[in-house]
Amino acid sequence: MSLAAQQTLESSYVMHTFGRSEVEFVGGHGMTLVDDAGREYLDFLAGIGVCCLGHGHPAVSRAVREQADRLAHVSNYFYIEHRGEVAALISKLANGDVEGARALAHAMDAGDEEAVRAASAPAEGEQVWKTFFANSGAEANEGSMKLARLYAKRVGNGGNTIVCLRGGFHGRTLETIAATMQDWLQESFRPLPVGFTACTPNDVDELRAIFDALGDEICAVMLEPIQGESGVHPLTREFMEVARDVAHEHGALLIADEVQTGIFRSGKPFAFQVLGVEPDIMSLAKGIAGGVPAGACVAKKEIADVFRPGDHGSTFGGSCLAVAAAAAVLCELTLGAYDDRAAEVGAYFAERLGSLDAVREVRGIGLMVGCDIAEDVGDAHDVVAAMLAEGFVINATGPHTLRFLPPLICGTADIDRLISALTRVLA
Ligand SMILES: Cc1ncc(COP(=O)(O)O)c(C=O)c1O
Repeated sequence: MSLAAQQTLESSYVMHTFGRSEVEFVGGHGMTLVDDAGREYLDFLAGIGVCCLGHGHPAVSRAVREQADRLAHVSNYFYIEHRGEVAALISKLANGDVEGARALAHAMDAGDEEAVRAASAPAEGEQVWKTFFANSGAEANEGSMKLARLYAKRVGNGGNTIVCLRGGFHGRTLETIAATMQDWLQESFRPLPVGFTACTPNDVDELRAIFDALGDEICAVMLEPIQGESGVHPLTREFMEVARDVAHEHGALLIADEVQTGIFRSGKPFAFQVLGVEPDIMSLAKGIAGGVPAGACVAKKEIADVFRPGDHGSTFGGSCLAVAAAAAVLCELTLGAYDDRAAEVGAYFAERLGSLDAVREVRGIGLMVGCDIAEDVGDAHDVVAAMLAEGFVINATGPHTLRFLPPLICGTADIDRLISALTRVLA
């Protein structure tokens, strides 16, 4: 159906929760999207950081197609093919065990059950991470927050307050907007769930003061290693370290919301590994299944084990289809060394962006890149529209901030094409 017809129908029948660009994509391959008129665009947004292997990746398409033909869904009352392997692979990746993860991904790829069993068995003393499968980033965070509260109640300090950072973003459910310390997102929905308190990012003194005041009432600090929706603002290593240390001193946990930063985008499997500060729980979504809705709450075994049947659940989470997609995506990323690639190509991208006259500051890590543009250039949303007209999909997070979350298959030639178009548009 054409864009014009789709616009008429959507304006009549689809809730107007997003301002949409005047384009309808109907196909895609690799870094390229194709609209209803057959025009091609280079995609530097990847469905908001989701399509990490680009569009129509053969391994992911095959896995989803074959699984859909065989069995799409059965519910969590049953065991599900490949789910244990995917969770074991996440555990290896969370430990930064590249060799172990590759051995497991190889075995999964080959469908060699004996090799999977051998590669997934934890070594003596190895930290095991367990996964709860959800459907989205907000749901992954709901799982992480419920787990932190339950751990405090059954094992820990009995606290229930979660410290979150101003400017953060954790989702659109009531609980996750309560955790999202941005007034414009909260104000229409009050009263919000209680049990949250705000701290300024990278302000270690304020964080310490909050713990001095509330102490054991706090069950967790939840943070994004790099705040994405607020314009790609990284936390300092010092702040992450203090957050972990002060939380642990009070019997509280550190939750990393890696919904946007995770799954190889940062130059490591997870951004906490770039900053060198390990959380107790992390939330994943976006890239985890390459476009099939999926999320995950991942926790160290000793914390995860407080969840018992009935404490948490989901009809769809960890469905056959999502697991098949996640297995294909995570194996491909692990075996293809996409972490190194994101680091290298991301560094090139940041350097090229920084060389533009109209660019004031470049921030980010790996292939999660943001930049502020000079105020006299105009509104960043107009830049996004002008870039779309040039055949490039990018995103603005504020009036002067552009954000780029390309597929991790992005190469330096793609970046060169983007930079020459951006140079024209910014001029
Ligand atoms: C850091 C972070 N957490 C949570 C979410 C919410 O994810 P979802 O839209 O899948 O619920 C997002 C979405 O952009 C995000 O960037």
